[in-house]
Amino acid sequence: MSNPLKIQYKDDKNLNARIALHRRFDVNPYSWQRWVFEHYALPTDARILELGCGPADLWRENADRIPAGWNITLTDFSEGMIAAARRNLAALERPFAFKQADAQDLPFATATFDAVIANHMLYHVPDRPRAFAEIRRVLKPGGKFYAATNGEQHMRELWRLYEPTIPGCHARVLATAGGFLMENGAAQLEAAGFVDVVWHNYVNALAVTDVEPLIAYAQSSNTLMDHVWTEAELSAVRAAVTARIAAEGAFHIGKVAGLFASHLP
Ligand SMILES: C[S@@+](CC[C@H](N)C(=O)[O-])C[C@H]1O[C@@H](n2cnc3c(N)ncnc32)[C@H](O)[C@@H]1O
Repeated sequence: MSNPLKIQYKDDKNLNARIALHRRFDVNPYSWQRWVFEHYALPTDARILELGCGPADLWRENADRIPAGWNITLTDFSEGMIAAARRNLAALERPFAFKQADAQDLPFATATFDAVIANHMLYHVPDRPRAFAEIRRVLKPGGKFYAATNGEQHMRELWRLYEPTIPGCHARVLATAGGFLMENGAAQLEAAGFVDVVWHNYVNALAVTDVEPLIAYAQSSNTLMDHVWTEAELSAVRAAVTARIAAEGAFHIGKVAGLFASHLP
């Protein structure tokens, strides 16, 4: 397995370490996944496809309000993620379909779905125009497409913190995660034929008061996955964060995230 993305996402361990930081230190008390779900303007009977579902947090956190008439198919290119999604939804008393699938090559018939969801995954897709063409193909005419992502300045204070260890850190983050952002996503969606593209912004930030979850985040980061941290480097990060928390009460990290809503003509 030589693809770094496939190594990063072979199971849900790395992603969960990053999600744990957000869950614990988000300043917005309203759950991200609950907020995202509220933007899905769909009838009570709908066929829905999710791409890059990860451990299925979207459905787990909204289990109490998924309409009974929604027929939901979860896909991810990682077998380990599909296994985690299955496990996490096993206790829910409703059926979900699961399939391992790459967003660039969808194993579904033309005009199957009323909506496609792709949250925080399009920046990982090497040939996005091809994925968009596949999404268009499997959507019914007028079908909805929802894609969550980050902005260019998302977590900038964290990249600055890593800068002494990883020179050009923010530029490197953008080189791996900059392909589909708040700033450039609408143009890509419109070029791919989606209409009424609207960005919805989720206001949030992190106020981190404990250093260890930040260390776990650094070690799990998908955007810097070719950097192997040494103990000395991690100690330097620990010292910098500890000093900041002592001086300001917390290490403050700005977040820029939200979702694009769009549809086919
Ligand atoms: C940052 S995680 C997001 C997970 C989930 N959508 C969420 O928002 O919590 C990105 C996910 O996209 C998957 N992924 C990356 N490239 C993919 C591709 N080309 N096709 C399908 N899934 C992909 C990864 O395996 C991972 O589960």
